[in-house]
Amino acid sequence: MITNNIKIAETALLRNDLVAIPTETVYGLAGNAFNDSVIKKIFELKKRPYFNPLIVHIKSMSALDTVAIDIPPIAYQLADIFWPGPLTLLLKKQSVISDLVTAGKPTVAVRVPHHETTLKLLNNLPFPLAAPSANPFGSISPTSPFHVEAYFGSDLEVILDGGICKKGIESTIIGFNNQQPILYRHGAISIEEIEEKVGKIKVVTKNNNDPSAPGMLSKHYAPATKTILTENITKTALEYQHCKIGLLLFNKRINIKTAAQKVLSEKGDLKEAAKNLYATLHDLDKLNLDIIIAEKMPNNGLGLSINDRLERAIK
Ligand code: TXA
Ligand code: MG
Repeated sequence: MITNNIKIAETALLRNDLVAIPTETVYGLAGNAFNDSVIKKIFELKKRPYFNPLIVHIKSMSALDTVAIDIPPIAYQLADIFWPGPLTLLLKKQSVISDLVTAGKPTVAVRVPHHETTLKLLNNLPFPLAAPSANPFGSISPTSPFHVEAYFGSDLEVILDGGICKKGIESTIIGFNNQQPILYRHGAISIEEIEEKVGKIKVVTKNNNDPSAPGMLSKHYAPATKTILTENITKTALEYQHCKIGLLLFNKRINIKTAAQKVLSEKGDLKEAAKNLYATLHDLDKLNLDIIIAEKMPNNGLGLSINDRLERAIK
């Protein structure tokens, strides 16, 4: 059921059911972060491997020490600047956070989502919410309640409707080595924006399929349709002209006959492009195309985050 009634979501979570929640990035598949049987339901419904840890969503910075310990001052500084918002911090876990949530790691991923509905829900609940993106493992993340419904249908009783996600791409993930911040996943806050506040940070995002490394599997975010990424969209489109092709373009259409051409941001705004990315991939995936050809975005700002997702969507 898609509903905007927070009380219905709250009741479902209190009886240990899962609820899809809106956030500013993507929809999450949420459950009581303190209850292992609920956490297992998340992994089972998503068909997510148990080695891939979950993000814990808290209501405010004041709740941080209920889930993490030994928090470095730089983490407080970042939280202070970017929360509520699309920044996930990897911190040493409190003992109450189970190994199921963190996949056995000593760290827990935490963020305060910037979405009015979900913040209200979190404030009503006596526990934080563990929530991965609300898609089956490996597929395109959902940015509308209808994407979630299409994925899970009646297997998920409550989808809390918070409209279309404003950022449209997952949170940026930062961990710490002593006092040194390390970026593990490009996301809705660009690295430039973070470096502006705290200086140069190290980037470690290419862990491929090493399950012991912070969760970045090389294949993810993938449409069912074969997808390729190119720096020269016209040349690649011509090479595939015999196929039914759909183009995912940054800011303009090209002058070649194709089954579909979708532009992410006509004004060339990378924030707008990020917001539209997953919804556009969902749309292209429904067109029975032979192939989706995605154009590489400029390699700066959120272009880095979009390119990261597109590189993982290739198959
Ligand atoms: O924007 C977001 O972050 C969304 C919304 C729902 O909050 N959530 C999200 O969750 O993208 P998910 O599960 O799709 O991605 C979480 C990522 C995974 O790559 C996971 O491996 C990594 O965070 N992660 C979680 N806990 C970790 C930990 N302790 N150490 C390293 N990586 C961790
Ligand atoms: Mg995900």
